[in-house]
Amino acid sequence: MIDVLLGLQWGDEGKGKIVDYLAANYDIIARFQGGPNAGHTLYVDGKKVVLHTIPSGVFHGHCLNLIGNGVVIDPVTLQKEINNIIALQPDVLQRLFVSQRAHLIVPTHRALDAASEAAKGSEKIGSTLKGIGPAYMDKTGRNGLRVGDILSKDFMQRYNRLKEKHLQMLKQYDHQVDWQEWEEQFMAAVEYMRTLQIVNAEYWLDNHLKDGKKVLAEGAQGSMLDIDFGTYPFVTSSNTITAGVCNGLGVAPSRIGEVYGITKAYCTRVGGGPFPTELLDETGDALRKAGNEFGATTGRPRRCGWIDLVALRYAVMLSGVTKLIVTKADVMDGFNPVKIAVGYKVDGVETKEMPYDLCSVTIEPVYHTFPGWEKPISSCTNYDETPQVFKDYCRFVEDYLGTRIAFVSNGTGRDQLLQIP
Ligand code: GDP
Ligand code: IMO
Ligand code: MG
Repeated sequence: MIDVLLGLQWGDEGKGKIVDYLAANYDIIARFQGGPNAGHTLYVDGKKVVLHTIPSGVFHGHCLNLIGNGVVIDPVTLQKEINNIIALQPDVLQRLFVSQRAHLIVPTHRALDAASEAAKGSEKIGSTLKGIGPAYMDKTGRNGLRVGDILSKDFMQRYNRLKEKHLQMLKQYDHQVDWQEWEEQFMAAVEYMRTLQIVNAEYWLDNHLKDGKKVLAEGAQGSMLDIDFGTYPFVTSSNTITAGVCNGLGVAPSRIGEVYGITKAYCTRVGGGPFPTELLDETGDALRKAGNEFGATTGRPRRCGWIDLVALRYAVMLSGVTKLIVTKADVMDGFNPVKIAVGYKVDGVETKEMPYDLCSVTIEPVYHTFPGWEKPISSCTNYDETPQVFKDYCRFVEDYLGTRIAFVSNGTGRDQLLQIP
């Protein structure tokens, strides 16, 4: 069976930390979508590490790590990431596997991302500018370059053909990007990638599953950034929900086991787009400060607001979440009251369903209010010790979402995790 772990909000729910914790119980950790737009933070012996493309099981000596076909890879970022990890975990290369079907992000994809965002002006998505959208466009447009292509003799011919197409496209934009200097680094990194373990990953995974190995699929971004079900067009370009695991790794739906869904005890979003429970006041500022809410990939300040059960219930439904994990409960220490959105007033009419287009309607969240926790959660070492108000809050969330909470995270460290019996 293959278990899944994914974010239920707009990303940055703490996936890296939780995968790093859960990896102790798995043989293989596999990324199935996204690319260097992701920033997954974990702490290794007190040292902060941010992973973009490499699965967060890499710091467990027994774990194999797979970058699946659904991922888009920037070879330059990947090489840098590996070099950073080697200093802490010298055997990383022996345990890293890359699907030959994963697509490549080339320098002109990044140039197109920047030009397209600049052309959108105030309507821009707020992309991480890593070339994600253009790379997935070439994948679905059947023009892309895949990892397996770097091993073929005519790789340069294919690369040049794609580059020429991009150069034609770039002519329509005023915003010009100096991508040429990236090309040399790209070619050097492609050369480096040829030395990695490039595998026929769907067979590789199938063989391991038949041998009884335990696999955890690690999501990137979050359900509300899903290309089909997120707050379109303010989304990323891949399927971030459980369905993406089947496409992104080549596994059948019948093989999916537990689905861990992660939410913060509040909510954040980075980049543009609708965010019904956003707090544009001092409470929002205080959440940003207490939660240190600055992007792990871009450093941008994250927008902050209350937890949104309407959006979460939608995400739980879409992914078939079997276990919830609530992170950053400690950040809410000292906040009073604590609010939870339980409905939306859409153009004055109350609903518990996600509207089709959040941009074209006025949404006023309906809140349920809890008093603040009576004592800090940060110092608790087991769930029983947590304040009663927090336990009531957890029960309320579970009842609304119809799913049990398995863990509450109360700090950045691997072991700052309270299991709910
Ligand atoms: P990811 O993209 O889902 O892996 O999340 P990020 O790494 O982008 O952002 C989560 C941030 O919250 C990181 O800086 C983590 O170190 C931090 N974090 C994770 N869990 C907790 C928690 O329970 N409490 C606190 N205070 N910080 C946490
Ligand atoms: P992790 O895995 C938070 C957001 C961007 C932008 C939109 C589209 O760390 O949770 P893209 O670069 O994909 O074209 O950007 O999606 N975004 C993320 N926000 N966490 C992420 O990843 C994100 N990856 C993309 O900010 O709004
Ligand atoms: Mg992140």
